[in-house]
Order: sequence, then C-alpha cells, then structure tokens
Amino acid sequence: MSGFTRNQLIHGGDYNPEQWLDSPEILEQDIAFFKKAKINEVSLGIFSWAMLEPEEGKFDFGWMEDIVNRLYENGINVIMATPSGARPKWLADKYPEVLRVAPDRRRNLFGGRHNHCYSSPVYREKVGIINRKLAERFGSYPGVLGWHISNEIGGECHCDYCQDAFRGWLRERYGTIEELNRAWATTFWSHRYQSFEQIESPSPIGECDLHGLKLDWRRFVTDQTVDFVKVEVQALRDGGSALPITTNMMYFYGGLNYHKFAEVIDTASWDNYPLWHKQPEPETAAEVAVYYDIMRGICRKPFLLMESCPSSTNWQSVSKLKKPGMLLAASLQAVAHGSDSVQYFQMRQSRGANEKFHGAVIDHYGGEDTRVFREVTQVGEALEILSELTGSGVKAQAAVIYDWESRWAMEDAQGPRNKGLYYHEAVTKIHKGFRRIGLNVDMPDMEQDLEGYAVVAVPMGYMFRKGFGEKLKKYVEQGGYLILTYWSGIVDDTDLCFLGGTPHELMDVCGVRSAEIDGLYDWETNSGAAVPGNSLGMTGEYRCRNLCDLVQLRGAEEVLRYGSDFYAGQPALTAHSYGKGMAYYVCADFEEDFYNDLCRKVSEAAGVKSLWVNLPEGVELSTRQDEKAEYLFIQNFNPSAVEWDEVPEQWQQIYGEVSEKLPGFGTKVYKRAL
Ligand code: GLA
Ligand code: ZN
Repeated sequence: MSGFTRNQLIHGGDYNPEQWLDSPEILEQDIAFFKKAKINEVSLGIFSWAMLEPEEGKFDFGWMEDIVNRLYENGINVIMATPSGARPKWLADKYPEVLRVAPDRRRNLFGGRHNHCYSSPVYREKVGIINRKLAERFGSYPGVLGWHISNEIGGECHCDYCQDAFRGWLRERYGTIEELNRAWATTFWSHRYQSFEQIESPSPIGECDLHGLKLDWRRFVTDQTVDFVKVEVQALRDGGSALPITTNMMYFYGGLNYHKFAEVIDTASWDNYPLWHKQPEPETAAEVAVYYDIMRGICRKPFLLMESCPSSTNWQSVSKLKKPGMLLAASLQAVAHGSDSVQYFQMRQSRGANEKFHGAVIDHYGGEDTRVFREVTQVGEALEILSELTGSGVKAQAAVIYDWESRWAMEDAQGPRNKGLYYHEAVTKIHKGFRRIGLNVDMPDMEQDLEGYAVVAVPMGYMFRKGFGEKLKKYVEQGGYLILTYWSGIVDDTDLCFLGGTPHELMDVCGVRSAEIDGLYDWETNSGAAVPGNSLGMTGEYRCRNLCDLVQLRGAEEVLRYGSDFYAGQPALTAHSYGKGMAYYVCADFEEDFYNDLCRKVSEAAGVKSLWVNLPEGVELSTRQDEKAEYLFIQNFNPSAVEWDEVPEQWQQIYGEVSEKLPGFGTKVYKRAL
C-alpha cells in the first residue's frame, strides 16, 4: 500500500484556494466541478506560508480549515503540504540567513522558491513551528490522507552553516585528514589539506576539479537535505500526526540521490511532465517508463504520481496541447507501472504570475464544457473502474541498475568522452529492450539486493560502491544472468581508480579484462557482427558509436566482433559462464536494435517467462498483482489502432474497448485470479 490511499486510486492534484479567498463563489463552484470530474483528492498548502502565517507568530488557519471541511463534506480528501518550499518575505527580511548562498559565495535576495538554506537553525526552527501547528490542527482530520513535505526539494547552499556541517560530515566519514587526503588523491596538483577546517565546498572561484570533493559534496547535500526532511517530519510527529509522509521528486534530478529519501518517507511521489508529441509517442512513453520504474524502486512499493499536466505546460520551450486521448493513456501508464494515483498540477489555473498559462483542470474560462475537463473526467472514470488494484505491487524478473552516486562520479570525470557519455541513453536502451518483450523492470541502485531477478543489467556501472562487485559476483555464481557494459567497475567509492584491471572484481566472472577504451568523434561509428554459431544465437550486425572498449579475452566466448578500425575482428560482445550463471560483457555503445536482440536472447537463455514476446511496436505491457489477482495493462502509444491477438482465456477484460484492435492511445486492462 502507498499508505495514502483509502482503498481507492487517488485522482486530484495541486489546488491553491489561497489565491481565491476573495471569491468564495469560485471555490464553491470548484467543488461542484471536482465532483463531476471524479476528483477525490486535492493537495493543499504547498505554497501557502504567507497566508498561514502572515506575520511572525500570527497564524491564520481558519480559511484552510473551512476549505478542508467543505471538501470533506463532498467526498474529497486532502494531501496536506508543509509550506517550506517558499517562504514569506517577513521571514527572509528578519532572518537573512534563511536565504541561500550560491557556489560563488553570494547570498541570494528574497525571491522565487526553493531559495533557502537547509542548515540554517532559524529556518529549521520556523519550519518546525508551522509544521507542528499544521499537524496539531489537521494531523488527524478524517479527510487528510497524509503529508506532502515541501515541494520538489532541491538545490544547495554554500553559507557558513553549510560549510561547517560539511566539515563535520567529512570528519565523521574520514576520521583523519590523512585519510581524506588519500581518498581524494589531493597530492595531485599539491592540494593537500592539513585540517578539516580548511575545506570549502566546490566553487567556480575555488576548488572545482577535485572529484573526491565534488562527489562527497553531493553526498553531503543529499544527507543534509534528508536531515532537513527529518526535521520537518519530526515536527509533524510532535504535533501528534501519525499520517504517512511523501515528498515529490523530479525525474533523474541530478542534485540528490533520491534513494536516500527512503529512510524518511513512507511513499515516493513524483512529478511527470513529458514532452508528448515532440517525437513519436511510443518513444516518449518508453522514456517515461524508465522514470516510473525508478520511482517505484525508491520505497519498493506503489508510489504516487503527484503532478502531471492536464493540458499544456507553460515552462517548456513550446506549450504543446495534449492530443485527444493522450491524457488518459499517459495517466494510465502511471497506474500500469505502480502508481496509486493520478494527480495534476493544477486544479485551477492561477490568474496571475508565473504559472497563469500552465494547463489546469479548470482554466480561466471557468467552465466544465472544455475538452480538458472532459478528458480529466474520463481519467476519473477509468480510475474508479480500476480502483480494486489500489495497493497492488509490481513483480519484475529483470532489473536495470540505476545509481545516482556512480552517475555523479562518472559525469564529473574527465574522459573518456567529455562531449557526452550517454549514460541516460544506455540505461533507457536496455530498459526498453526488456520492455519490448513485455517484462516489468525494476531499477534498483547498487545498495539494493538482487535476489529474485532472472536477469540483471548494469549499464555503465562506472563506480562500484562498496560491496557491489562482490554482490554481482555472487549473483552470477548462484545462477543469475548478468549484462555488464563498457565503463563499469572503474573506480571505488571515493572515485579512486581500481588497480590491477577492470571491470573490478568481475574479470573472472566476465572472462575479460578491459584493456583500453576508445572515444569516438560524433561522426564516427563502428559495428559489431555476430560470430557464426555463437552460443547466444545472435545473428545480426549492429552499429555502435561514442565508446568502444577493447577487451582481452580471459576465457569468454566472442559473440560479436568489431567491424572496423584497428580493432576490427576484436570482441565487441562476449559471453562467459561462471558458477551457475552467465555474464555478458557489452563492449560498445550499441544502437537500440542490438539491445532489443540482446535482452531477448539473454532473457530466453535465463528462462524468463513473458506473457507476450512479440509485442507490436509502440505497445506496452505491464502487470501489477496482489495476493488475489494479477492485472495486465496493454497500452498502445501509437496514435492509430494496432491489431491485437486475443488474450488467453483466464484473463478477463475489466477496462477498455472490447475489440480485436487496440485503438490509438488506447488502454485495455485484464485481470486473472491468482
Ligand atoms: C513543478 C512544481 C509545481 C509547478 C509545476 C508546473 O512540478 O512542483 O509547483 O510549478 O512544476 O509544471
Ligand atoms: Zn546554508
């Protein structure tokens, strides 16, 4: 269970009644509209601090209480936010320390949002006070489902408080300055430190090339932010609320390791704003699927789609309308991947300021006779039909490792291709390869366990965090099928290169040693052609670009060989059996077709069972299940209909058009008893 649901899929989103307090008739009208659109939740208070505490210590929660009550009387629940995402002017004026200091050591002026220091004792205190009061007032209201901490937490601060906290964090991690010097390789360019007091956060006007420092700074920023969230949560608990906690996240946001938030939240939630219709829709759907699977992996249970746009998004370079049917398909994709909600930003469009042209369920016209309102209502109807699957989980046979810390380290490094390593693309291609054969995919980080997966892929696992190499070795030894790619197992936890050959700890598992890696110019390509009779049954020839790893065989079989350059004829894909399992080493950044074939062949070899191996292009298959039933989502992200074979008998269709076809942007959902 996500903890937030009351046995129904949540349908709602961000609502800002504080912008309409002078128009009570509008608020009344909104409630009537919400009911029509089958909205059963709104998220309140996200940016309401100035209205909740107009002056320091003077609280006005009455307006909020009236609204919460009116909503509840009408069957609409509330996810209540803490207001720390944006602060009132009085707070910044009286306590300038709450404002953020940029990497160049300049303190920001008041403005925007997210503009605060996570370490500032005053900010923590003020947030603590209002959170506690909110919890006292609303923390056990019948219609309140849980807490939404702050909003899209992110960014960093370089003030003196943060510097002090960083030094303390380093002292704890390294114990002695000698150990830190060793871990960061500070002898390079004579950057050795004599004491922790000398250390400064990375800055464009100071130290910005020391990778160990940068990596630890990012880890610290995550830990400090998690610590700030802890303070927020504690205040809610002190106020007597035991309700579940979430915080809304953003995609692959590079500033925080989201996995670390699992210790302070009950449920992960995220905000999804894909650029639909910019490229063929199936491409976008496949990219979004990766994010969903990452979000589900954070708390390893159903998550919430906290925000999505019902219409066009005004901060993107072009505000594209969603074509008819897109909203429904996109919304059900979230549910198919394990979301227990479909929520929007925003319920009612604001009249002024930055987001006045951002799509909303109710726009400035203010009526229900709009295309968007009708489509939102269709989503509401679908969620009501599907409500029985609330809380069901997703079982995956395949896992693709996605690790923030490794990504940070890899992106910071100079070489082997500063023009672009294409990590994200590598992850997506492998994920897509498994999805193409109808598999659910989990996306754990290097710390999570790998038990139960028939296939594990590690695309560009540059940094092997402590124990990860060993974990993969055990996984293969015990019968797992591993796909490891180029640029893996290169450095340790503090970004020091492993000595003695790479992939570290896995040369014997993979039966290869990576000897050299060639960076390719943008216009260069190479290829990999199948070695006749290879054990994996690969037959094609595939293009590769960007990076080509030249490996020395140490017992592995050659499956593909390079087609050109001075390494023509050398291995480009290898296979090696180890213990009870198999390890495949992908030497180069291959095109999508390669991964489609590789994932299919390796899954077959691993004995993976999938429901439909030959999915039509652009069709996604996902399943959710609980103890009683399994649910199958078949989604067509093509704008036009595709032929669809009948589903086997034990599956009963519970949602969607009954026909031999899958309509354009159409979804069908089936169920079978377990
Ligand atoms: C983010 C924020 C929202 C809003 C939307 C607009 O996701 O969390 O407050 O600004 O973007 O798309
Ligand atoms: Zn600070």
